[in-house]
Amino acid sequence: MKALRAVKGTRDVLPGEASAWQRLEAGARALLARYGYRELRTPLFEPTELFARGIGNETDIVSKEMYTFEDRDGASLTLRPEATAGVVRAVIEHSLWTADPALRVFTLGPMFRRERPQKGRQRQFHQLNVEAFGITRPSIDVEQIEMGLTLLESCGLSGHTLILNSVGDGRCRPAYVDTLRAALEPLAEQLCADCVRRSRTNPLRVLDCKVPADQEVIEALPKIADHLCPACGDHFAEVRRELKLLGIPYRLSHRLVRGLDYYTRTTFEIVSDALGAQNTVLGGGRYDGLVKALGGPELGGIGFALGLERLLLSLPAAAGERRCDVFLAVLDEDGLDDALLLQRRLREAGLAVLMDHEGRSFKSKMKQADKLGAPWTAILGADERARGVWAVRDMSASTQQEVPGDDLAQYLKEKVHG
Ligand code: HAM
Repeated sequence: MKALRAVKGTRDVLPGEASAWQRLEAGARALLARYGYRELRTPLFEPTELFARGIGNETDIVSKEMYTFEDRDGASLTLRPEATAGVVRAVIEHSLWTADPALRVFTLGPMFRRERPQKGRQRQFHQLNVEAFGITRPSIDVEQIEMGLTLLESCGLSGHTLILNSVGDGRCRPAYVDTLRAALEPLAEQLCADCVRRSRTNPLRVLDCKVPADQEVIEALPKIADHLCPACGDHFAEVRRELKLLGIPYRLSHRLVRGLDYYTRTTFEIVSDALGAQNTVLGGGRYDGLVKALGGPELGGIGFALGLERLLLSLPAAAGERRCDVFLAVLDEDGLDDALLLQRRLREAGLAVLMDHEGRSFKSKMKQADKLGAPWTAILGADERARGVWAVRDMSASTQQEVPGDDLAQYLKEKVHG
């Protein structure tokens, strides 16, 4: 019978890869706790309208990438393409801001977008998503950027760049968008079909275009930095001043508008040199109008999401995995009972223990111990058994020492845990 395969754009995290994911997730949780973020788990599917209203109908995500389906009662539901809209829905639904006026939450889990799969781009991928609500001062923008960088660097990322922009707000952006639309009108002949359509529907999206032939024309378009209102200009200047204070280097890009419509003022991305075309590891920004647009109070917000697959792809390959602390090698059948009892004692003592169950040769047992990354192997032959001892081998030093069976658990515990 023909074997089935995973859906295009999805992939299994295999046992050999899972520990890298677990390390990353555990490190992220510990770091986020130091910055006061608590976990919020929202459903994987939401009403379609939430994303249409939250992310924007004219974005690529909403117009062509969502997994939308009709429920049996006719309701339109969508697998979450990102976390922010669902988090904001939950914040409003449970009035979370009333108990915590400076609410900080994070979400970790899969997102779904029907994009063309390539390196660093999947149809099911995983994000660590953080959001802070109710803080209007620019210092929260800088704190989040600093936290994102610290998180990536603590995972071992290097060769990355912070890119920064301000996209203005409801007061200054509409006038800039009109200016942009007017500037784009006579350029239709020189731009790709997508840009021509976006010039009419959502001109800011033109700045996102990656088509090489369009770049020169787009670079010469009016820049948002020249059209910020005084309040947005001041906010951005303060963000930059505080980044300088903390010694955080960045590159300004007037084209960093991001692929979602809810952003206001500060937007940022961290890109990695280790990736190809899909090189954005982390992206986010402020969204001061989103809570209100989704039916909540006037509450500002800022957040970012980092793509876990992209981060893992950007990191240097990890050293071989250690699957156990101690491997038991019993050289004859009669030693089996001793091994089974010792195995249980060692596990009770908190050690990870594996043994050969198949009665293989000594040589192949030692190979197996090596393959499992065991730093210690306890060997029991007829001679050792007669004297009530085990030969404990330090696998990296290739030295061996005899230890009485009764002392083994304590001895190995000290060796492994120090
Ligand atoms: P985003 O830029 O759409 O922002 O996604 C954030 C990150 O998720 C990207 O930088 C990338 O690492 C990862 N990512 C996105 N799409 C894919 C994909 N198809 N395959 C693999 N990784 C992907 C957001 O989602 C916003 N909700 C971030 C945010 C939170 N803004 C404010 N709060």
